[in-house]
Amino acid sequence: MPTVIFQLPDGTERKVTAASGTVLMQAAVSNGVAGIVAECGGNASCATCHVYLDAAQSELAGGPNDVEDEMLDFTAAERRPTSRLSCQVQLSDALDPMLVHVPEEQV
Ligand code: FES
Repeated sequence: MPTVIFQLPDGTERKVTAASGTVLMQAAVSNGVAGIVAECGGNASCATCHVYLDAAQSELAGGPNDVEDEMLDFTAAERRPTSRLSCQVQLSDALDPMLVHVPEEQV
């Protein structure tokens, strides 16, 4: 079962585990991880579940599809090369442990 380490803007970390295949946003929300708003519930239409993946894991996770790529232009915090919408990323054993940086703001 993959572990996700969320690095929060205040420097603290939250470690959660979830089954492989679980959507990253769902792993955050169901464990009460602060800073993942997810207003649209995972439809890639709000950009309030924005996260920065670890640079080394970003390629393994794959890139955003066209819809996500477009939405990433509307994030509250700056878009970076490793930016993803967490509702579009699935946990996998290849990304265990997964390191995720939560941005300062989502709205
Ligand atoms: S939950 Fe809305 S874009 Fe991810």
